[in-house]
Amino acid sequence: MKLTFIVGTRPNFVKIAPLVSSASKFGITYNLIHTGQHYDTHLSDDIFRDLQLPPPEINLKISGGSPVSQIGRMLPALESILPKFSPDYIVVVGDTNSTVAGALAAKHLGLKLIHIEGGLRSGDWSMPEEINRVVTDSITDIFFVTESAAVNNLRKEGHTKNVYLVGNIMIDTLLKFRPEILRQPNPITEPKYALVTMHRPANVDQPEKLRAILAGLNRISQKIPLVFLVHPRTRAEMHKLKIKISPSLRLLPPLGYLQMQKVMQNSYFVITDSGGLQDETTWLHIPCLTIRPNTERPSTVSLGTSVLVHDTGKTLETQVDIVLSGKYKTGKIPPLWDGRSADRILKQLLKITL
Ligand code: UD1
Repeated sequence: MKLTFIVGTRPNFVKIAPLVSSASKFGITYNLIHTGQHYDTHLSDDIFRDLQLPPPEINLKISGGSPVSQIGRMLPALESILPKFSPDYIVVVGDTNSTVAGALAAKHLGLKLIHIEGGLRSGDWSMPEEINRVVTDSITDIFFVTESAAVNNLRKEGHTKNVYLVGNIMIDTLLKFRPEILRQPNPITEPKYALVTMHRPANVDQPEKLRAILAGLNRISQKIPLVFLVHPRTRAEMHKLKIKISPSLRLLPPLGYLQMQKVMQNSYFVITDSGGLQDETTWLHIPCLTIRPNTERPSTVSLGTSVLVHDTGKTLETQVDIVLSGKYKTGKIPPLWDGRSADRILKQLLKITL
């Protein structure tokens, strides 16, 4: 069996790595295609290196611009290269512009499509990722899903065949590299700190919203030092605002996977709008204050350690106080988030004939 993996962003790399490393064990061959959506050394090269991913066979180097322009430019580029690989399946992961571009190109070329992390829904159409999820799933042939809510979402949309609950592949990566993460030196010297990441358009693209969040973070940093790993999108918007940042809100560039995990795993709590961090903090039992009004990952809230903080001023600070007082909830790990999702996926694939 031959698979073609299409990736483009940091979270895509983390999700594809376990399939890349397990494929040969199942006698499966693959090609790895990078759209180029994430091109920064911190967001691409450093992650490839840390995850021991082989260099992509092709990097389309398509980045920047609006989601529509990104997807639009990816389509003809993918159309010209995908048939050369003659794969049994195209595999896309997650919910990014590269995911949906890969899915559309595959189906228009008559290729069979697998979506890893299918079925997640936030119900929030203002998120580019929600559009990408729904469009991708509408043309997917085989779904591998992370949590039971996703199975129900797919059922409601009429997808009942070839839907497999296999657990969370991001946790495979976390577990595989855990010994190495533990051995890493921590670049943060403060004994107690919280970690911040934020890149969603809803939080960073509106100046007033970003200003309010940064003002809240400045205040929180008076209670506990904050380490803010600033995504390029966020950095560009912050630069425009010229807002004063407190010295205890430390701004750093994004880190490689191993260093990032070390900083997160040693943090007291996390403030984020990232989907991946919601999942990882739940597995790690680290409190996660998620700066979003909704989530496509409901088990991180119902079972795990995440709370949604919609009002980023007062509510965020109230939740910080709860964490600091030691009264924050404790979480459970959702079923099948056990580091064996990639093996379940590949084993299942060998049994399916479409
Ligand atoms: C993307 C994904 C999001 C994912 C996130 C993780 C979509 C719709 N969104 O958002 O689901 O959680 O990645 O990082 O696909 N930029 C750089 N350097 C880079 C990458 C981006 O400077 O390495 C700049 C771009 O030029 C652009 C902005 O950051 O101006 C946004 O990048 P984009 O690729 O649109 O998406 P992300 O915000 O990174």
